[in-house]
Amino acid sequence: MQATDRTEIADRLAEARMRTLLLVEQLSDEQLNTVYSPLLSPLAWDLGHIANFEELWLVQRAGGREPLRGDLGRLYDAIENPRAGRNELPILRGEELRGYMSEVRERTLDVLDDADLDDPSVPELRDGFLYEMLIAHEHQHNETMLQLLQMVPAYRPPLESPPPAAPPGDGPEAVAVDGGTHEIGARPDGFAYDNERPRHAVELEPFRIDRLPATNASFAAFVAETGSDPPLFWVRDGDGWLDGRFGRRAELDPEAPVVHVDHAQASAYAAWAGKRLPTEAEWEVAAAGSDPARANLDHAAFGTRRPAPGDASACGALAMLGDVWEWTDSELRGYPGFEAFPYREYSEVFFGRGYPILRGGSWATRRNVTRVSFRNWDLPERRQIFAGIRCAEDA
Ligand code: AVJ
Ligand code: FE
Repeated sequence: MQATDRTEIADRLAEARMRTLLLVEQLSDEQLNTVYSPLLSPLAWDLGHIANFEELWLVQRAGGREPLRGDLGRLYDAIENPRAGRNELPILRGEELRGYMSEVRERTLDVLDDADLDDPSVPELRDGFLYEMLIAHEHQHNETMLQLLQMVPAYRPPLESPPPAAPPGDGPEAVAVDGGTHEIGARPDGFAYDNERPRHAVELEPFRIDRLPATNASFAAFVAETGSDPPLFWVRDGDGWLDGRFGRRAELDPEAPVVHVDHAQASAYAAWAGKRLPTEAEWEVAAAGSDPARANLDHAAFGTRRPAPGDASACGALAMLGDVWEWTDSELRGYPGFEAFPYREYSEVFFGRGYPILRGGSWATRRNVTRVSFRNWDLPERRQIFAGIRCAEDA
């Protein structure tokens, strides 16, 4: 590995950490240790887990060093420790937590200086894979942290939002995609998670996909007509609804994508509209050509925004990336020829257990982890994730 690559990795690790710390900067230690929802970890757990995962892979595994604090790792194993019990664990808190985060980071940078990152006998190190994985991991946990931060009363978005884009302009309600053989999945080169590979052919019937994600206005019409539940965070305001995030009452932009609906709400909405949810293969084919640079990502807007006119995929669908994760009606499984890498617990242990796939990333997703082939999944009943709806239909 080249020295410039090392500097670039160190800079990107530093950037990821700056954002993590920026998100929690305004919180007291007490707030970091508060359980705002039994479905979410206290923020102190996320912070310790981010550092411990880094210690495990970059310091212990890549650097061959002993752990700093014995078998602390047991407390931060996401699979061993369900979210509801995480605040009862003797996890690191306060100064000790901050100290651990920076000590691990120092050692990571030491290892990065010394380690032979091109050692062919350590496949996880090839092409800096482990470093990409660690940066992506911290980025992904920012999104988990934001699920909770939206529940913190009086939390102030720490970044300045850009002005909203112009409205998307007139266009067809749905765009057509040809049937036939298409390819989905990540190509062999570059960083991707194991579950995105191998790239492979899929046969699709021709279909249509909505040009825009479902909006607050159309979801409100669905709720009014069917008596269905509103999204998480909506609060009643006379006949209408307000955005109740951060314990506040704010206007909801009727033209912005609706967010915080679960899978059943998304499917019911699609059926009400006379449509259905796309499969993940349909979604990925329709998203081809989307540019993450144009999407509402990276915490900048700190909420959903009306899709910008320039943000189109090759078939003409807007905002496939960013704003909201889009529920699909596919379940997480391995692609044909799947091989777990570098550990089964990232995704393989979740295969075939009824986790619907979500695609596209949201305003709370870092740009670095947003790509057309990225597969996210969660329990179908989850509303605190940044999930919305895009309808599809047979052509
Ligand atoms: C891909 C979002 C389902 O949060 O459980 C974080 C990402 N994996 N740490 C999760 C993840 C390990 C994962 N999801
Ligand atoms: Fe994790």
